[in-house]
Amino acid sequence: MDNANLFRTLVASYGSPLYVYNLDTVQLRLSELRRTVTSKAKLFYSAKANPLLAKELSAEGVGVEVTSTAELNAVSPDARGHVLYGGPAQTPQEMRYALEHGVRQFSVESLSQLILLDQQAEQSGLKPDVIIRVNPHIRASARLSMTGVASQFGMDIEHIQSNRTTIKGLMHLRLIGVHTYLGTQIEPLQNIVEACETSLAVLDEVAQVLGCPLSVINFGGGFPWPYAQKGEVCLGSIEQRINELVLRASDRGIECWFESGRFLAASSGTLIFRVLENKSSKGRDFILTDAGVHCLGGMSGLSRTLRQKVDIVPLQCTHVQHQTAHLATVVGPLCTPLDIVARDVSLRPVQEGELLTIENVGAYGLTASLVAFLGKPIPVEVLIVKGKVKRTLALKLVWEQCADARA
Ligand SMILES: Cc1ncc(COP(=O)(O)O)c(C=O)c1O
Repeated sequence: MDNANLFRTLVASYGSPLYVYNLDTVQLRLSELRRTVTSKAKLFYSAKANPLLAKELSAEGVGVEVTSTAELNAVSPDARGHVLYGGPAQTPQEMRYALEHGVRQFSVESLSQLILLDQQAEQSGLKPDVIIRVNPHIRASARLSMTGVASQFGMDIEHIQSNRTTIKGLMHLRLIGVHTYLGTQIEPLQNIVEACETSLAVLDEVAQVLGCPLSVINFGGGFPWPYAQKGEVCLGSIEQRINELVLRASDRGIECWFESGRFLAASSGTLIFRVLENKSSKGRDFILTDAGVHCLGGMSGLSRTLRQKVDIVPLQCTHVQHQTAHLATVVGPLCTPLDIVARDVSLRPVQEGELLTIENVGAYGLTASLVAFLGKPIPVEVLIVKGKVKRTLALKLVWEQCADARA
């Protein structure tokens, strides 16, 4: 079955809008990334990109980077030893839950979080490995830069320096390395290599400041992939430099970790949705659909990120294929003017009931959307392998009576 027929069949079974994730594509990206970072490096999948892929990727021997109990629960219990638990401002309850559910590696972002984890580890009778997330002095050329600028993420080196005695006195943590995260969608690709070089220097600096050997550097993610646009990224141009860097570090007894969300997940996902109505208003054409910012690009619905070009492709409809394209604004069904999927896209005329698709939405798609806003149906998510359904999941929005506010 070709993709168009498969998608049509899946929509007939699971409704529209629908997310389909192709695990064969995830495999392809995984082998490309493994080739780039070499087998000497340890690879983590960043579950925030799409928690539903965590199970499959951990079955492939990839560690999983999680930042919440829900993301941790998306990883099979037998793979939790390979989880890296991070994120700022974790509560003692979250730390305790992670420790009790098999997590033994943490990325910690502040002194108070280090102290909190040390206490939780002591109470659990455990001594987890810890990498300290550092906010170095440089700034990556990333679209979402979290480094080198004032930020709630990570610790400044000066702060590590002034608290070195306290940090070294935390007896229930095994301090093994440093974590830097330079941003997402890092382009041009050469900037990733430069960011890695800088991170290695930061590792040496922190080891010197603390006066103890550190053997792990987590470079973070940032390998790019188009979002909701056609296109692809080939890592070939940085393969050799990253290979050399990892091998050089390995020769010094340093293990390199990479955590990637977008690159591994994005290309696997397609959103399929339906045209509900064509409408003209004051000279502009609108296509009203059943997919809005509750399904995709939720943060843009809050005007929090720049609107970018979105490529929308009709699933197929041969009898109108010869018609010429015109500009239309594709919107969702929510009653807010911010519910815009794509502004002024060039599209052939589409008919009510017809299915449209957006590719490259396997990362930061549904879980990064405003699923609860206005209570419209949440798309079902289908994982396919070799054209066959492997798993089907439905995120449910249900309000239940709650006697205890924290239950
Ligand atoms: C700490 C951390 N690691 C990894 C990632 C994944 O980044 P990407 O999806 O760009 O690979 C993120 C994304 O925000 C992050 O904050």
